[in-house]
Amino acid sequence: ARITYIEHGGTEHHVDVPNGLSVMDGAKRFTIPGIDGDCGGACACATCHVYVDPMWRDRLPPIEELEEAMLDFAFDVTADSRLSCQIKVDDSVDGLIVRTPARQY
Ligand code: FES
Repeated sequence: ARITYIEHGGTEHHVDVPNGLSVMDGAKRFTIPGIDGDCGGACACATCHVYVDPMWRDRLPPIEELEEAMLDFAFDVTADSRLSCQIKVDDSVDGLIVRTPARQY
C-alpha cells in the first residue's frame, strides 16, 4: 500500500510498503528518518511513535491496551498518536499519511 511519511522538518516520503509489514517496518525498509523501532515491533519501546493524519484517525483499527500503555512512554503524545509497529499495512491503509515526531525519546 502507498504510505506517505512526513518528517518533522516537512520532507515527504511516498513509498509502496508491501502488505503484511507494519508502518514501522516500512519506515525501516525505506530508511525513513524519525522512526526508530528499537524493539523490532514488539510494542515494547515506543520509539516508533507517529502522528496519524487526522483524516485517517478513525479509519484505522482502534488502539489496543498494550499500545495505549506503551504510548505513555512516547514524547508529545496527542490524540493522533499511534505506535507505527501496531499499524498493519494492507489495502485498507492505502494512502495513509503519518508524520514523525520531533524526537523519539
Ligand atoms: Fe517498539 Fe513499536 S517498534 S513499540
